[in-house]
Amino acid sequence: MSQERSLTNRKLFNSYFDKKLEDGTKITLEGWVRSNRNNGSVGFIEFNDGSYFKNIQIVYTKESAHYEEFTKVKYGSAIQVSGTIRLTPEMKQPFEIQGEEVIILGDCAEDYPLQKKKTSFEFLRDIAYLRPRANTFQAVYRVRNALAFAVHKFFQERGFIYVQTPEITSNDAEGAGQVFHVCSDLKHPDEFFGTSASLTVSGQLHAEAFALAFRDVYTFGPTFRAENSNTNRHACEFWMIEPEMAFADLEDNMDTIEAFIKYIISYVLENCKEEMNFFNNFIEKGVIDKLKLVINSDFRRMTYTEGIEILQKSVQNGHKFENNDIFWGMDLQSEHERFITEEIVKGPVFLIDYPKEIKAFYMKVNADNKTVAACDLLVPKEGEIVGGSQREENFEKLQAKMKEQGNEATLDWYLNLRKYGGCIHSGFGLGFDRLLMYITGMQNIRDVQPFGRTPGSLKY
Ligand code: 4AD
Ligand code: MG
Repeated sequence: MSQERSLTNRKLFNSYFDKKLEDGTKITLEGWVRSNRNNGSVGFIEFNDGSYFKNIQIVYTKESAHYEEFTKVKYGSAIQVSGTIRLTPEMKQPFEIQGEEVIILGDCAEDYPLQKKKTSFEFLRDIAYLRPRANTFQAVYRVRNALAFAVHKFFQERGFIYVQTPEITSNDAEGAGQVFHVCSDLKHPDEFFGTSASLTVSGQLHAEAFALAFRDVYTFGPTFRAENSNTNRHACEFWMIEPEMAFADLEDNMDTIEAFIKYIISYVLENCKEEMNFFNNFIEKGVIDKLKLVINSDFRRMTYTEGIEILQKSVQNGHKFENNDIFWGMDLQSEHERFITEEIVKGPVFLIDYPKEIKAFYMKVNADNKTVAACDLLVPKEGEIVGGSQREENFEKLQAKMKEQGNEATLDWYLNLRKYGGCIHSGFGLGFDRLLMYITGMQNIRDVQPFGRTPGSLKY
């Protein structure tokens, strides 16, 4: 590859920030044209190679031997440009490139669907293969990248082992029946593996096996749910972070969740300043303050029972939910969760100790024999972003639950973990895409996934 390839927008900006960028330096860059306008004697190209959020301005004048070439450069095309760095401290952008030579590497057809004028997110979803070039999506996917890195950084710094749990499984971990079936032959679906197979809804159960060998582990990968709910926060394929910790109870679990969320949000605020300012100005006014508040707040911890009482009181005082029938034992809807975190707590809150009937079979039954040691983290505007629990470590109790559930045969190995050196352990699942929505202020899960996977949508 050419020597030039090593230079990028990001490197130019970095050397500017390091005060090492010198006026008069000759450079060559490759990238895409974000706009090109000229008044007959001088022209401006907004240029970006995708390595940094901010564009670089290329100025070209009639004096340049390549003036005609420059005027022909179309919006969207790929170019190689050579020129001279000009420091412009008095201007909006701190430096620009005096363009001297341009080579059109890839022209862009007139019917380029990604037009400069403001386009709706719905429209951009329809051209998902081009939207990574749009400003908003440059910011979204860059933050997504930073967030993924921060996830690994947090756990690796704390000695957690990263375990890649399988995507194809023979069990429905959550027991909610929302699985996508896997087979190689529709007529004989069970033949390939000798058992029915599905895409995993959670790596938790496999992670538990590793936690009981490595103490602290995490999985971070795609999970799949055949939830036919057409909301803006449910996807059929989404990424989940699932840590699992041996010798940890529910309190330890919540401490970890809180430290983790604060850490990764801080990382993004620190390392994605340009992008976060963009979100703050154009997507959700005040999102940076909202996140800073999270970093600086102590997450409230409230029992499900308390939550129900609060909701009941609010209804008595005239508050109207779509589902106004509030009773102990009900599964909370998003509107209820949001009311608690937005109106009552006004910040992140753990709801703990849910009725055992509405939670998964693997959760530890509390001494009251009515509730389980679960903790859901609710945040304003988003609702639940984390679901976690202490796991049932008692063989007999878990066995009884699994008999009810009917998964004793397929998950005998999981039960056996309680027989061979079992111990108390806890873990949680954080929906990566939902967290990204919360951090960026983007309203729809379809707009934070690279290629959204939701019911009725599989074009790309
Ligand atoms: O609450 P869930 O179902 O918990 C589990 O899967 C546990 N096995 C986690 C664990 O303890 N290891 O899902 C965890 C999180 C939710 O809080 C939510 O953020 C996200 O996963 N999530 C979804 N995100 C996008 N689309 C969906 N359809 C989601 N379903 C769950
Ligand atoms: Mg949940």
